[in-house]
Amino acid sequence: MPLTTKLDESARALLEANTQTADLDRRRFRFTVPSVTAYPFQWFWDSCFHAIVWSRYDAERAADELRGLLAAQEPDGLIPHVVFWKGDLVSRLQWHHLESRTSGRIPFHRAPHTTAQMQPPVIAQAVERVVDAGADGFLHEALPHLERYYRYLAALRDHDVDGLISIVSQFESGLDFSPIYDEEIGARDAGPAELLARTRLPQLRNKLANYDLDTIFRRYRHHQEDVLVNAVYGQGLRALARLAGRAGREAVARWATRTADGVTEALVDRAWDEELGLFANLVGPDERRTSVKTIHGLMPLILPDLPWKTVERLASHLEDPQTFGAPFPVPSVALDEPTFTPDHRLRGFRFIWRGPLSLNTNWFLVHGLRGHGRDEIAARIAGRSREAVELGGFNEFYDPLSGRPVGAERFGWATLVVDM
Ligand code: GLC
Repeated sequence: MPLTTKLDESARALLEANTQTADLDRRRFRFTVPSVTAYPFQWFWDSCFHAIVWSRYDAERAADELRGLLAAQEPDGLIPHVVFWKGDLVSRLQWHHLESRTSGRIPFHRAPHTTAQMQPPVIAQAVERVVDAGADGFLHEALPHLERYYRYLAALRDHDVDGLISIVSQFESGLDFSPIYDEEIGARDAGPAELLARTRLPQLRNKLANYDLDTIFRRYRHHQEDVLVNAVYGQGLRALARLAGRAGREAVARWATRTADGVTEALVDRAWDEELGLFANLVGPDERRTSVKTIHGLMPLILPDLPWKTVERLASHLEDPQTFGAPFPVPSVALDEPTFTPDHRLRGFRFIWRGPLSLNTNWFLVHGLRGHGRDEIAARIAGRSREAVELGGFNEFYDPLSGRPVGAERFGWATLVVDM
């Protein structure tokens, strides 16, 4: 595919510069790390986004980006949130800590070394883009993995069989320190040290349960049905249904469609908060609703079957300068929330996803809004995203008030801006 813009050229150059390789079972894997300095491993949803951008330039390279994730799939179907690949000291310190299982592949050192956590399940969407871009054969290669992965989510993550899947740590949501999680962990108004400790406690419990999901759901209350994760899950199931249909796997296609219908239904029935005009997370066995206005609440906009009235209510927040209609939209926390920070600084320390905008959530929302015919708002978000990148480079986060970059530099998924 010919390069179309200067932005495309620099996006491709960044993905290239952040590319690393690793060997496993006499195969060589290529993948793009989110940031060479801040995040030097392969992350699940980052790689899915990288594959989507790669698919614009080089379909085979895009397929390779996902092959590393598929190779790291666990026997139960989980595709882990980080693949460290190497067994060097830095990675080992990472993968022996709170986020890993102590059995199975670990610790006896056959790469890839991984965490035992999930991230928002955006891999079917990525595979679809790569197949559309012409990676011949990748559909048949990836489909069995996808089917096992989404069936794992439906079977093991929806423990109360209500159609919505649960995360067992806020770090599984992809929105690590979002204040939507503060209340559940008892960290409302907490200072930096307390916030850090409290976010890690659920992971300590998970580790004690060796990440056995049945035990975690039975024994603990810290799991929750996260709106962002479920919206991405619903969208992913629809992509899986289309891919399975193309491969002639009708039964899988029907299962995925039925399950996706159930996700939207459950979100609308149980996670909608009429007063806030947003969706809420459902926390613990009692499914207590969260009340902090964060970008999670807008994410069901990516679901094509969301009722029209709900779309209107959500879209009105994007035009409201008090909540999500920031000069540089879309802030990860509503501007009028007391926890909102424009630059992630909490008493001098940095905690991400507490205000600044990220281009992956903007990418989701831009496409979701277009799908609902809200082209004007979509164009505004895409335009401001482009401006932020032109001013500050490909960054992990931007201040939604000024547009200045406030996260890791030369950051992979910021290249999604070329696909808005
Ligand atoms: C942070 C983000 C997460 C991302 C990772 C690597 O942990 O919260 O979403 O995947 O960094 O970029």
